[in-house]
Amino acid sequence: MDQIVPEQAPSQQPVEQSGMANGVMIRSILAGIGAYLPKRVVSNEELAERVETSDVWIRERTGIRQRHIAGPDETCAFMATEAARAALADAGVAPAEVGAIIVATATPDQAFPSTAVRVQAAIGAGGFGFDLSAACSGFIYAMSVADSMIKAGQVKGVLVIGAEVYSRIMNWEDRGTCVLFGDGAGAVFLRAGTGDGTAADRGILSTHLHANGNYGDMLYVDGAVGRPDRPGHLVMQGNQVFRHAVTLLSETVTEALAANDMPQSAVDWLVPHQANLRIIDGIGRKLGLPPERVVVTVDRHANTSAASIPLALSEAWHDGRIQRGQVVLMEALGGGLTWGSALVRM
Ligand code: UT7
Repeated sequence: MDQIVPEQAPSQQPVEQSGMANGVMIRSILAGIGAYLPKRVVSNEELAERVETSDVWIRERTGIRQRHIAGPDETCAFMATEAARAALADAGVAPAEVGAIIVATATPDQAFPSTAVRVQAAIGAGGFGFDLSAACSGFIYAMSVADSMIKAGQVKGVLVIGAEVYSRIMNWEDRGTCVLFGDGAGAVFLRAGTGDGTAADRGILSTHLHANGNYGDMLYVDGAVGRPDRPGHLVMQGNQVFRHAVTLLSETVTEALAANDMPQSAVDWLVPHQANLRIIDGIGRKLGLPPERVVVTVDRHANTSAASIPLALSEAWHDGRIQRGQVVLMEALGGGLTWGSALVRM
């Protein structure tokens, strides 16, 4: 059983900025993981009937073979709720233990209320909740915010969810983007535990976040909620984003290992954002990881933005590849540009 921080800890033991209290480090333990994928699967061949593309082009340039596309009832909030329920069941936790819900999404069903409070109502949780917008880096950002809240003693249990329906913001006539994305949701339940402040602790060991708004026009949505004449489609300068992804993700994995004084060989698994197999392979090679230590779902899920990391994590956790005690490095880059990493001992 994970050690729960005592009820009186936040008020009676002052928590330093680092999360240390009386020589004990508060750690955010990944207690449960869950996912949801829409029922409908769309193959490359099916897309080739709509736009001028081919299965060969899509597979060779991206590694994608198929994607799941949400039906009308598979809303962002619905998928987020299903993933949240699965994560709580995996953790063996009742909704009453959820202190906060953070949903990373760029495709909420409504401007407000947030997807998070829709999930809260659906599962019957208390506490508070909000959505977070950082595009494909959203899950890393949400993990970082949740970790800070737990270390500050503000909450003891946080549902962190990545949920996206990019099919609703696709220009289905643009072959440069419509073949790349899919829908889905993934969730983790983070529970406050303790450690001794070393890299041997279980839980989130570090997160690093970055953004550079000067690159905002490289990947964006050309419309807005409240503009029925122009609800917005995703626009991307794919090759520019690719170039930046290779460089910035490389830097961010180096940064994560250095911050933890950890050699590359200490990483058991890379669970990267799933945008392009060529980017994923490049980061895996940089870390010296054999391909079987890199979790890949882009072939079946395509790019599900903020949902891609928890979907991949869920798959490799539930099929028994990732084991308790192993070190998992997650990284993502997306619109903003935003990018970052989370290093976790499971
Ligand atoms: O998750 C957020 C972060 N996103 C990413 O990390 C995505 C990063 N970018 C990429 O993954 C790649 O840049 C893409 C997969 C989007 C594109 O691959 P690329 O090798 O960079 O191709 P390109 O954009 O340079 O286009 C090469 C050619 C162009 O034709 P011309 O101008 O050379 O005649 C495109 O028009 O491929 C053409 N093309 C296509 N052809 C067939 C673009 N899309 C398609 C398509 N089918 N679907």
